[in-house]
Amino acid sequence: MDCIEGARKYIRNDSVDLVITDPPFGIAGDQVHKHYHRKENFVLHGYQEIETAEYAAFSRDWIKEAERVLRPGGSIYVFSGYSNLLEILNALRQTKLLEVNHIIWKYNFGVYTTKKYVSSHYHILYYVKPGGKVTFNTHIRYGPDEKDTKGRSLNYQDREDVWIINREYKPGRVKNKNELPSQLLIKIIQYSSNEGDLIADFFLGGFSTAKTAVGLNRAITGFEINPSAFKYHLSELQKVQPGYLLKQIKSGKGKYPANKNKKWNEMEILSLYKRYHEIYNQLQNKSRTIKILQEEFGRGYFAILNKIEQMPGHIVR
Ligand SMILES: C[S@@+](CC[C@H](N)C(=O)[O-])C[C@H]1O[C@@H](n2cnc3c(N)ncnc32)[C@H](O)[C@@H]1O
Repeated sequence: MDCIEGARKYIRNDSVDLVITDPPFGIAGDQVHKHYHRKENFVLHGYQEIETAEYAAFSRDWIKEAERVLRPGGSIYVFSGYSNLLEILNALRQTKLLEVNHIIWKYNFGVYTTKKYVSSHYHILYYVKPGGKVTFNTHIRYGPDEKDTKGRSLNYQDREDVWIINREYKPGRVKNKNELPSQLLIKIIQYSSNEGDLIADFFLGGFSTAKTAVGLNRAITGFEINPSAFKYHLSELQKVQPGYLLKQIKSGKGKYPANKNKKWNEMEILSLYKRYHEIYNQLQNKSRTIKILQEEFGRGYFAILNKIEQMPGHIVR
């Protein structure tokens, strides 16, 4: 059914941990789906577009509902092309949701053009509802010490806001237009939810978000207005083994500081200053001193550095 009506009827206030959704882009005669050289007879018909003139009001209405159903601290990721990005941003800014990141997803098989640049990205707008604890599992995929062959942090690279993730070929399988790749959905779900959380997708389409969510042992709710897509993909979703993806995904390795995110108390700060002076006087090297203090105080490098830089009389070297 229609997601606005459906959310009002079926989803309680403050009940959803994470919304991931990919609304119709409002491009009349959308050609995007024709670019993967695929056989159209495997594409389910009845995909519902939104008229350009209605797009702003439509976006405001469903985003207002998404804000209502999210729990305080819950996260929302909205996919958008560039044509109607302005309407989505305007609708988000008319809520109390807070902007966290504006992610660019670069995909393969962009729309082929000769007299202009090839369009090969989407926008992913990541916002949170204020007033509660936000789930962001910083080290769920790559631990703090994991490095690539050039010594660069894999965690840092994975959390950069430009994502290069290929679309998936699904030759010979029934599909919806514009299905999202599972690697992209796994990433969002891992960072912004925990097992057992409830995820909502207001525009289920080919149920990619739903199938990935169940595969990662999350619960799912959502809507799709196209009855044939809904019926077909719901029966496919019922075949997904809850949690089956958990065995396939990589999880972050490495040591985490024992007192990470714990508030510093006054005694601890005074003892940090004392130890800093003692060790620094011997080593005469700030970064080696901090590394020793990391072990002693169970804190990360930057947590120690920040405190040291706030030390009365400290001279930044
Ligand atoms: C871009 S697709 C979603 C694709 C989906 N993320 C996937 O990976 O398969 C948007 C979907 O929203 C559906 N839709 C359009 N208007 C709707 C509405 N008012 N309520 C619910 N679904 C709607 C369309 O039929 C289409 O399947």
